[in-house]
Amino acid sequence: MQALDYIQSNKDRFLEELIDLLKIPSVSADSKFKGDVRKAAEFIQKKLMDAGADSADIVETAGHPIVYGEKMLDEKLPTVLVYGHYDVQPADPYELWDSPPFEPVIKNERIYARGACDDKGQMYMHIKSFEALMSNNELPCNVKFMIEGEEEVGSDNLEAFVRENKEKLAADVILISDTGIIDNDNPSITVGLRGLSYVEVEVTGPNRDLHSGMYGGAVGNPINILCDMIAKLQNEKGEITIPGFYKDVEVLSDEQRAQMAKAPFNLDHYKKELDIDDVKGEEGYSTLERTGIRPTLDVNGIWGGYTGEGAKTVLPSKAYAKISMRLVPNQSSEEITKLFTDHFMSLAPASVKVKVTPHHGGEAAVVSTGSVGYKAAEQAMTDTWGKQPIPMREGGSIPIVALFQDVLKLDSILLGFGLDEDAIHSPNESYGLFNYYKGIETITMFYKHFAEMSR
Ligand code: BES
Ligand code: ZN
Repeated sequence: MQALDYIQSNKDRFLEELIDLLKIPSVSADSKFKGDVRKAAEFIQKKLMDAGADSADIVETAGHPIVYGEKMLDEKLPTVLVYGHYDVQPADPYELWDSPPFEPVIKNERIYARGACDDKGQMYMHIKSFEALMSNNELPCNVKFMIEGEEEVGSDNLEAFVRENKEKLAADVILISDTGIIDNDNPSITVGLRGLSYVEVEVTGPNRDLHSGMYGGAVGNPINILCDMIAKLQNEKGEITIPGFYKDVEVLSDEQRAQMAKAPFNLDHYKKELDIDDVKGEEGYSTLERTGIRPTLDVNGIWGGYTGEGAKTVLPSKAYAKISMRLVPNQSSEEITKLFTDHFMSLAPASVKVKVTPHHGGEAAVVSTGSVGYKAAEQAMTDTWGKQPIPMREGGSIPIVALFQDVLKLDSILLGFGLDEDAIHSPNESYGLFNYYKGIETITMFYKHFAEMSR
């Protein structure tokens, strides 16, 4: 394919453009970056048009805009709907970055910046593959692009857009690069994502901060109490104690678990990479099972009282935490949020008042390995990585995937190329240049195989 040569000869420019995109701090969670989020949308719109789209529009929503573009060649040809996101997670804590998060640098064949992998780098591979195919008259399918700016905050407004535009979005397959592979020697295709329920809790004690000598021991301390309540959410076996939490959890057969256990995984390397002496999780499950098929609960942030320099003897009036639960197939995010709320309130002693505020959620999704789309992705990866990819369930969430199944009745092909070492959501996020270019090639081959296999 000439498109593959085109990718080789335009490598440097493809990287320069990604660098430009990474300079825009499109943090969806923080309203201070609202204007930058829009700038990133405009950047994508322009690049889609430059690459040869018939149209590319900025669609307003109640939140950040969606970029929708398409190239319709012939209605008899199959149609691929590409989904990605141009928003990124907050870059905090900034002081832990070796170079500023929105001033991309290239080091050790990797590009460092917030969003380098998740998902600007991975999403942009699609625009460059599209350009390569268009420039060489080799695009074999119709393509629709739906690139959103709210994935990292739960995709709430995308849901309305999808429901209202079912016809416009009609396609034969959905293609997404927002996941990872096992490692560069062991390519994989993601076939499972977890759901999410995210809440914020507020514990209030006395009506003002108090002197901890005058009142300590006599008045309930909201931070002590919050810690105690959080500790009660899990037992010594690592199980979540919220009544009803596991009732709908999908139970995998021994055969399915044995299949999963075949995936290459090196626990020593995993521990070494994270600098931990041991892993911790639900008893009776392996590390890959703990992230792939079991629901979990984590505190994402906790605060209250005095955290400035030095010491201040204070019994705080309030304590807060942000808590997320990762969910698996058949659990309902809305129901889990309710079960959590009822249980958490019931744990509160009379000395404090508790408020639970739901943030966002999303459902888990499992996709089939039997579809034409999966087979085309498998063949594309085999071509470019020289090895057949294995199906893998991953622990992260992409809320729109379950919604696509529900509303558009379409599975998504989760053809991602990230690695654990990319440190997505962490300081010093990066993306390997090898994976960036290999991804562009693999996506290009996907179109070819998908068109051929659909005939
Ligand atoms: N790219 C991730 C999802 C992901 C990460 C899938 C790792 C598989 C492996 C995505 O951008 C993401 O971070 N999603 C959020 C969704 C949430 C905010 C609703 C997540 O998982 O925390
Ligand atoms: Zn993310």
